[in-house]
Amino acid sequence: MSESPDQQPVAALIILAAGAGTRMKSRKSKVLHEVAGRSMLGWAVHAANGVHPQRLSVVVGHLAEQVSEYLHEFAPEATTALQAEQHGTGHAVKCGLDPMGEFSGEVVVTYGDVPLLSAETLQALVSEHRTAANAVTVLTARVPDPTGYGRIVRDASGRIVEIVEDRDADESQKQIDEINSGIYVFDAELLRAGLAQLGSSNAQGEQYLTDVLGYAVSRDLPVGGYVTEDPWETEGVNDRQQLARLDREANRRQLVRWMKAGVTIVDPLSTRITADVGLGIDVTLQPGTILSGATTVGDGAEIGPDTRLHDTEVGAEASVIRTEANLAVIGERAVVGPFTYLRPGAELGAGAKAGAFVEVKASTIGEGAKVPHLSYIGDTTIGERANVGAGTIVANYDGVAKHRTLIGKASFIGCGTTLIAPVEVAAGTYIAAGSTITEAVPAGDLGVARGRQRNVEGWVAKRRAGTRTAAAAEEAASGSSPVGE
Ligand code: UD1
Ligand code: CA
Repeated sequence: MSESPDQQPVAALIILAAGAGTRMKSRKSKVLHEVAGRSMLGWAVHAANGVHPQRLSVVVGHLAEQVSEYLHEFAPEATTALQAEQHGTGHAVKCGLDPMGEFSGEVVVTYGDVPLLSAETLQALVSEHRTAANAVTVLTARVPDPTGYGRIVRDASGRIVEIVEDRDADESQKQIDEINSGIYVFDAELLRAGLAQLGSSNAQGEQYLTDVLGYAVSRDLPVGGYVTEDPWETEGVNDRQQLARLDREANRRQLVRWMKAGVTIVDPLSTRITADVGLGIDVTLQPGTILSGATTVGDGAEIGPDTRLHDTEVGAEASVIRTEANLAVIGERAVVGPFTYLRPGAELGAGAKAGAFVEVKASTIGEGAKVPHLSYIGDTTIGERANVGAGTIVANYDGVAKHRTLIGKASFIGCGTTLIAPVEVAAGTYIAAGSTITEAVPAGDLGVARGRQRNVEGWVAKRRAGTRTAAAAEEAASGSSPVGE
């Protein structure tokens, strides 16, 4: 996201996030619900940082402890102010402003539940406030259905004179389609004076922040609006349907951003990319791809179809098909899938392969090494160019503790081998198919650990007489080919 580097910081920014969010019907604070993989409050802090506030305060109330804890970890630069009882947006801003003490300059107010507000739009709002030398500048939008929002009332010359809440509006005011986003820049001094004057004689019995704007008008101070062309940026979330709607739009914006940056997205409707993902150029995302967390994908890699990667690093030109991966590293040109499960600590070197129905956990598969089919590899280090045959299982857990296994470079593990950890198979060894390996195999040796085969002559005729198998045996004995043709 581009930020104009020359923009002067604002003195303070207050994010309102004390509301109850009752319609979410959630034990989690509304502002901690996610849009495009980032909490709504996280988006609000992100946008706030675009105007470089010298003081950043989040007003918390409902589930205050939960929200404070989140902020402590994800936005330590923010302080929290408690609004124990919610007496309206004006009262909330007071709660945020009072602990900041005396200062002058600009105070920006935003909401914790308006996730699509961008840093660019906040910057434009602040620029407009400065250019017009306003005492208050409000972010507004024209919307097809303004129901529920405060309406921007302008006089005949187009000057804003007041904001009327939906519930306080008369019939003609209800027709106004320009709405109050609830996002403003105030002159600090005007804001303090206006808040001190607030009453609560309105339909909701609350202290309305919007009345500060009326107060500025009554004192003949310059009040302005900045109309955004993008009403999505002003939309708030009150319930889970709105959450889904804004999440979809936020995702669409991520996809557009990456397509513009050189990523092919075969089916945007089935693709999800959350906010902190990083992609190279000429990456191709096949349908059903979900990339989240701190996932990064190198140039020219192909992901999907039907793949979910979380906190996973994928190297250039790798191919990852029908895979679930979490906290894994996939080297350049590596080939993964289909139906592969890479768990935390799975690391594939350059050109390595983890093939169909392979699960890997806390293990390194060296450069060019291959685990092509039906295997479980846990707590194991596999050297470069080793080949691990179909159905190989590492028994890494003895029921109490996990143990490590080592497979040396260029070794060849036969199909159906079980490696009982802890065990070491040196570089340059062979393991016979079907072995159960419990002891170290030195370099250059063949490890064989399985029962010798014996055939019991005539057993079928004796013990399974009258079956179709016995009939086939008789037929085979009488001279047709051993497979019975
Ligand atoms: C508010 C505006 C309205 C605007 C709308 C935009 C007022 C009086 N009205 O109305 O003009 O169109 O936002 O969405 O300001 N909050 C607190 N403490 C409180 C009350 C609210 O922190 O005591 C927070 C809420 O968590 C929320 C935000 O402020 O994030 C807005 O509150 P909400 O009750 O949704 O305001 P609206 O009635 O929608
Ligand atoms: Ca609201």
